[in-house]
Amino acid sequence: MFYDSEARNSGSNTPEMPFNPFKALVAPRPIGWISTLTEDGTVNLAPYSYFQAVADNPDIVLFSATPSLSAVDGAISFGEERKHSEHNAVASGEFVCNLVSYDLRTAMNDTSAHIPAADSEAEHAGLVMAPSTRVKPPRVANAPAALECVVVGSMPVPRQGGSHRYQMVFGEVVGIHINEDFINDGRVDTAAMQLVTRMGYDEYAVLESAFTMPRPDFDPLLSGLLKS
Ligand SMILES: Cc1cc2nc3c(=O)[nH]c(=O)nc-3n(C[C@H](O)[C@H](O)[C@H](O)COP(=O)(O)O)c2cc1C
Repeated sequence: MFYDSEARNSGSNTPEMPFNPFKALVAPRPIGWISTLTEDGTVNLAPYSYFQAVADNPDIVLFSATPSLSAVDGAISFGEERKHSEHNAVASGEFVCNLVSYDLRTAMNDTSAHIPAADSEAEHAGLVMAPSTRVKPPRVANAPAALECVVVGSMPVPRQGGSHRYQMVFGEVVGIHINEDFINDGRVDTAAMQLVTRMGYDEYAVLESAFTMPRPDFDPLLSGLLKS
């Protein structure tokens, strides 16, 4: 079948596919569990699956947020305010991206609840936070790893004819905490972390196995130099 994304954007439905299949197909997406601090020092924590690594050396990640949601007359719509994670990251210049292991899945989901900025989702989910090293927002103590980030940019996601309502926040990674249980011979055992990833609808997947595939020796330009 052909799913007409442009028709959906202008309000018409594809009857045989009532939900946009996009997120079920660009899957799995890593979850950035973003911790930030409000101006008065309250810990904010929320999951973002529009999250990705976009460059290394220096290492850069981004997460992308809609405006905050509000309920008016029984209907949900986007409000004027930005989500707390985006606001706090941009205002303070710092955030931490915690990785989510399978045992933290329910707590991660709990922290997606829309609660007032003055309340901490971390407390609401019963999570213990630990101090970070280079940035002020704390990290989730039991997360298998956490990336400490300094905000290096923020811009609206571009779309045809203008700007999307999503806003991207770019962070440069200035340090990484890794639970030693997941380090073997100086390498991270990613599969052992059982990272939770997001698919479409309410579906998640767990990253549990890895296979290796060295780059080709016969690369015509690089003569095997990518092997390591
Ligand atoms: C697994 C998961 C992934 C999510 N990804 C995003 C996302 O990429 N962008 C977004 O705006 N909201 C996303 N949300 C919703 C936010 O977590 C939710 O709106 C949360 O209340 C935002 O909190 P904040 O205002 O404290 O940042 C996601 C929720 C879940 C459960």
